[in-house]
Amino acid sequence: MKIGGVSYRSIWVNDNGWSVHIFDQRKLPWELDVVELKTPQDAAVAIKEMWTRGAPLLAMTGAYGLALALKEDPSDDNLESSYAMLLATRPTAVNLKWALDRMKAEVKSYSGLDRIAAAYALAGRLCDEDVATNEAIGEHGLSLISQAHKIDTTRPVNILTHCNAGWLATVDYGTATSPIYRAHDAGIPVHVWVDETRPRNQGALLTAYELAEHGVPHTVICDNAGGLLMREGKVDMCIVGTDRVTRNGDVCNKIGTYLKALAAYDNDVPFYVALPLSTFDTGLESGLQIPIEERDQQEVTHIDGLAPDGTLSRVQLTKSQAANPAFDVTPARLITAYITEKGLREGAHALQNLHQAA
Ligand code: MRU
Repeated sequence: MKIGGVSYRSIWVNDNGWSVHIFDQRKLPWELDVVELKTPQDAAVAIKEMWTRGAPLLAMTGAYGLALALKEDPSDDNLESSYAMLLATRPTAVNLKWALDRMKAEVKSYSGLDRIAAAYALAGRLCDEDVATNEAIGEHGLSLISQAHKIDTTRPVNILTHCNAGWLATVDYGTATSPIYRAHDAGIPVHVWVDETRPRNQGALLTAYELAEHGVPHTVICDNAGGLLMREGKVDMCIVGTDRVTRNGDVCNKIGTYLKALAAYDNDVPFYVALPLSTFDTGLESGLQIPIEERDQQEVTHIDGLAPDGTLSRVQLTKSQAANPAFDVTPARLITAYITEKGLREGAHALQNLHQAA
């Protein structure tokens, strides 16, 4: 990914070889603030307070959080307590547990300095794997965009996305955005409808920023506009990311995804879900079993933005109390295909194929 023409990943180890850099995503797109995580507690706060976010990037921050913990104290006791502390930060995306489990299994057989080295080595490998996975998702998703383009080559392919499943939610490329970047780079004209994604506005703030930095044409819409645009024939496909997919194919993603899938189904608009297979939770049968994070009601009652004097400011929208469920579950029957690093899983056999791939 490029910011101002400079290549970055969204998480990387400092030149000192041990502390970890991330962007403070709460400040984007207004300020590009790189923060340094020096302790497992720093990593936990960064995840919980959403300095860093998105299912795959939560996993990588958790992995490095565990490496930071072991650097302080490589004992078994600290491994167990730091694992539990990091796992408790955010409940919905299964990727965090997936990464922490891989880390724990890897370092168990080492002790002392070797354990620390093994932890950093695996966290680095997980990041590299994430980049390769997202590149593969991009390649497989490209075929869908390319087919849509062939239907009418006189206009851009219009793609609607929700929240931020872009490079800021992963180590690089993103999941839902990877096919979009790939198509744009291949010269296929694309235009992205970006759901603003209340309450935290990850679409308006983060996805729009990413697409702008890469030069991809896009338009931010309020979350309620997608249904109308689909009825008017202005959406060729939806592509979203996901935080957890259960055995029956249900898709948990940012609140509002379900309504878009319903509107897409009603208007014969293909609804694609892009995911690394680490997001597939084989331990849960249905989406009803997924823990849905309930976040602070202030995210709904207030809104952040840039004041006329250029400072980041918060204003209040309502005096009433609010509820803030952060995710919803889209039933498998509304999904046209899953785009994974191992290929497309679509049609009547979508789910069976997904199981086989995982
Ligand atoms: O609450 P967030 O910002 O972490 O939620 C992010 C999303 O819902 C993403 O769409 C999801 O993690 C897909 S990941 C590429």
